[in-house]
Amino acid sequence: MTPAEIQSLLEVPSHQSSTPIKVEEAEFLYQFIKDKNCKRTLETGFGFARSASHIMAASEAPHIVIDPYQSNYNYGGLKNIEKIGLREQITLIEKSSHIALPELLNENKSFDFIFIDGDHRFDGCFVDYFYADLLLAEKGYLLFHDTWMQPIQLVINFIRQNRKDYIEVPTPLPNFSMWQKVAKDGRGSMDHSGFYTSKSWLKHHLIYWLHNGKNKGLKDGLKSLKKLFSK
Ligand SMILES: C[S@@+](CC[C@H](N)C(=O)[O-])C[C@H]1O[C@@H](n2cnc3c(N)ncnc32)[C@H](O)[C@@H]1O
Repeated sequence: MTPAEIQSLLEVPSHQSSTPIKVEEAEFLYQFIKDKNCKRTLETGFGFARSASHIMAASEAPHIVIDPYQSNYNYGGLKNIEKIGLREQITLIEKSSHIALPELLNENKSFDFIFIDGDHRFDGCFVDYFYADLLLAEKGYLLFHDTWMQPIQLVINFIRQNRKDYIEVPTPLPNFSMWQKVAKDGRGSMDHSGFYTSKSWLKHHLIYWLHNGKNKGLKDGLKSLKKLFSK
């Protein structure tokens, strides 16, 4: 099934159109999973399954998703997966990721690809990253969404400054951040590099104001600044 075929079947209520990843991000995800031949895949944050559907169609393998709030979406994600005929291959864990991820670790699960798009607060995203790192196989890939948000940028900056066993994999999509685990964690028990940046603060607030600001002149000015700070 191609991304265009999946897209024609997925239903997302118009008032929730900003919940899923964008169509071009889903297309990238599909091609990436295919190119890298990722088979063991995991995701936090199911929503309407735009990401899950593209991951599953590309891997042609089972997929695990964690989301405690699928009932709030009237099971729209599961219904979409059913529509594309992949219901049998998905395991939906209806628990918070901070409970589900350590359970998977306890079951000795390991993954080639993990997508983090669940709790977007710093502590929630950091906990997702912490367990995702432990669940990721060597050479596996970790992908973050919503990198415009300061909490997500801080988690990414933590990896950039502290995890020399990860390399950043460039993508053409500004709201994605992809990492590959290329070695074992070699830090000493007292090692730490600071990871707060003013750039992350500026980027977050610029994009927030761009979406919510009322003043057109100010918006145009901010758009030029946004270009300066993109990626
Ligand atoms: C932006 S949506 C995900 C969209 C999805 N990736 C897609 O492309 O359709 C975020 C999802 O994270 C879920 N979520 C929020 N807190 C969570 C948590 N602690 N653990 C797992 N999922 C969580 C929400 O219920 C929501 O479905």
